Amino acid sequence: MSRMAKPRTAYVCGQCGAEYAKWQDQCEACGAWNALAEVVVEAARAAAGVRRGGYAGAAPARIVALADVAAEAQTRTRIGIDELDRVLGGGLVAGSVVLVGGDPGIGKSTLLLQTLGALGARLRTLYVSGEESLAQIAARAQRLGLPLAQLRCLAETCVERIVENAQKDTPQVLVVDSIQTVWTELLTAAPGSVSQVRESAARLVRHAKETATSIFLVGHVTKEGGIAGPRVLEHMVDAVLYFEGESGSRFRVLRAFKNRFGAVNELGVFAMTEHGLREVPNPSAIFLSAHAGPTSGSAVMVTREGTRPLLVEVQALVDQSPLANPRRVALGLEQNRLAMLLAVLHRHGGLAVYDQDVFVNVVGGIRVQETAADLPVLLAVLSSFRDRPLPEKLVAFGEVGLSGEIRPVPHGEERLKEAATHGFRKAIVAKGNAPKKAKMGEMEIVAVQRLAEALEAAG
Ligand code: TYD
Ligand code: MG
Repeated sequence: MSRMAKPRTAYVCGQCGAEYAKWQDQCEACGAWNALAEVVVEAARAAAGVRRGGYAGAAPARIVALADVAAEAQTRTRIGIDELDRVLGGGLVAGSVVLVGGDPGIGKSTLLLQTLGALGARLRTLYVSGEESLAQIAARAQRLGLPLAQLRCLAETCVERIVENAQKDTPQVLVVDSIQTVWTELLTAAPGSVSQVRESAARLVRHAKETATSIFLVGHVTKEGGIAGPRVLEHMVDAVLYFEGESGSRFRVLRAFKNRFGAVNELGVFAMTEHGLREVPNPSAIFLSAHAGPTSGSAVMVTREGTRPLLVEVQALVDQSPLANPRRVALGLEQNRLAMLLAVLHRHGGLAVYDQDVFVNVVGGIRVQETAADLPVLLAVLSSFRDRPLPEKLVAFGEVGLSGEIRPVPHGEERLKEAATHGFRKAIVAKGNAPKKAKMGEMEIVAVQRLAEALEAAG
């Protein structure tokens, strides 16, 4: 028999990446059921080697003092799409692997095609598609008005052949759309399965590190919001960007979820038009919904996700619940934090909502992870509960502590300035965030220390 020896395999949890010698129905590390998938151990080891900065087959490592290590200058190329450059941390780093995740149809392929178009002749690029035919890609590129001569494409899904092509063709930027369609000859599992996605990605990561090629991997998002395929994908790559947007809204937000070369939670904002994605360089006010008049259950906050302030509307709906366990639903915010805030509201604000369903939503489909949203969330809840709009042109931000104190958040002054610029008339903030003067331009600033004071100021 002249067949290749079967490669040694192991079982890896698709949720957390824990590795087992034998298959079992539950992962002991994270408790996920039926999440183990077979992977090739050799390939996985090589991927792990890349993660530690060494390469498979490289000479044994030596211990050195950091002082003796010449800091490697990162070669960054500005793509020329500012909103994307910003999210990447100032441009594309040579040899970096960037995972771009998002729902189908959100615009991932469009964004990356435009990225290669913007790079034009400055870098040698290659777009590998396993999703669309070359004719479809050409038609789209033409419609987007991209320089067709500089866009080179390959319709291929076998990772070994992709790498072979890349080794011959030596592109400096490689797009693989999508990683779920790519498969390796080493495994018999179906493309899109955890093991295939993981091994193919590992092979591509190795190629990126060996040849200093920058690689964009496109990944679809599952219903649970993770990138389909193993969580370990997120550990393997240098940056994870999520492309998000609400259905029906033409605005798209690109968010860095992980970035070894820049700040996380940096936002890039785009609008989808008939000519592709357009940058929205001054997105401050697009997340405010356009109400005809004052509406109850709506509060405006200034978030500072990433490096610039953003005005965002938080909406709440509080309604008598028919259920024994009333619902607490948070969209764009953390669910547990909402439950905690409602408890604080009861204990320190005197407002009981234990028999009410509470829904909270951040307008525009964006996610606010910082605690500055605490106060506006509670103001929106209060307003909906009383069915009374908050004062017009009111803005608020601040963290709410378990003992009912309002805590300052970073960059208070910058947030206040942004609100004042956009014509807000009153701001409720923590004392530590308030400037000495009680006014900023036309905007009155109310400094509060306790939740009760904040509720009163908004009432
Ligand atoms: P696409 O990039 O194919 O999404 P993904 O790769 O994330 O699945 O984007 C598809 C959607 O974008 C599709 O619904 C059409 C829309 N679109 C425009 O509105 N204008 C355009 O110029 C392009 C190229 C796409
Ligand atoms: Mg696509």
